[in-house]
Amino acid sequence: KTIDWSPLMAEKGGYKHFMLKEIYEQPRAIADTIAGRVLEEKGEVYLEGLDLSATELAAMEKVFIIACGTSWHAALVGKFLIEKHCRVPVEVDIASEFRYRDPIVNERTLTLLISQSGETADTLAALREARGKGGKVAAICNVVDSSIARESHGVIYTHAGPEIGVASTKAFTTQLVALFLFAVHLGRVRGTLDQAQGRAMLDALVTLPRKVEAALELDGAIEQAAREYMGARDFLYLGRGNQYPIALEGALKLKEISYIHAEGYPAGEMKHGPIALIDENLPVVVVVPHNDTFEKVISNLEEVHARGGRVIAVTDHTDPGLTEKSDAVFMLPKIIDELMPVLTSIPMQLLAYHIAVLKGTDVDQPRNLAKSVTVE
Ligand code: AGP
Repeated sequence: KTIDWSPLMAEKGGYKHFMLKEIYEQPRAIADTIAGRVLEEKGEVYLEGLDLSATELAAMEKVFIIACGTSWHAALVGKFLIEKHCRVPVEVDIASEFRYRDPIVNERTLTLLISQSGETADTLAALREARGKGGKVAAICNVVDSSIARESHGVIYTHAGPEIGVASTKAFTTQLVALFLFAVHLGRVRGTLDQAQGRAMLDALVTLPRKVEAALELDGAIEQAAREYMGARDFLYLGRGNQYPIALEGALKLKEISYIHAEGYPAGEMKHGPIALIDENLPVVVVVPHNDTFEKVISNLEEVHARGGRVIAVTDHTDPGLTEKSDAVFMLPKIIDELMPVLTSIPMQLLAYHIAVLKGTDVDQPRNLAKSVTVE
């Protein structure tokens, strides 16, 4: 029997939605972000369109990273990467805030704009504000030759390919990879990373596409969990350090496509308010990779469990306490902590996707949202 494929079905490559297709494209998209940029032996990164010399980059005293929505979450991860490895202060801001607050920018300030579309009105205005004040401006964009890419001194393209689903997936994870590449490059030119450290980071990076592939194998288990939790009215997402932005991203994905209210919180902030929300009706997604704050996050997880909350844990570490106190555990492969946010993003995307499908929403074009917000 032959199947009649409509042109739209063909475009979706056999997937039910563009979003799912784009989630599954991530191993390939990430490999494309990395391709031709990694000089593993030398521990160096080559960023063809950056157009900012090593001397210029070494002279920077301050970095701003500015974006909206999901791209802003990538920016928050970027702050960890750049401050840790390049020892330069990084301030992250939402573009619509930055543009109106008369930011302190001079020729020793690098403003990095992140935008999938390269056309987001607030991000473009923030770029003009920083440039107008005499600062250096670079962009991480997906769409080639977009306004933000054209108006920046330098650009790092993510090369994720067209993203059609309104909810960003592969654009986000490739932004994280671009930020990682940028941090290694900046660390090497500033001398805060030596050759061996650069090489170790790049060695880990090249393993990322197949680890993302392994993370995608959680799809079936996550679909099962989605059935269990789709009836919830609210969700809480918790993470610490470089996983706090992933908690924010998980909550945003769920809000955007399933219309369920969700909040992302730094796990340590829970006792300052959101803990009051916890009861047996509240699913709490806890992002808890085995890093320096593992024990801290486990105690946050225990606080949720003790109050009857339903814990969905995302980790890379088998721990009896964790298994005992969680209703569901999604196990990811291990990788260096700097790249873990890419892997923890995958269950966030899949959970939101499956809940939305089960609820019957318009996954690729959620209500009230546009792919690119070109007006204020
Ligand atoms: C992502 O899921 C959203 N649809 C949205 O937050 C988006 O990331 C934001 O509008 C920024 O878009 P940009 O990356 O194209 O600038």
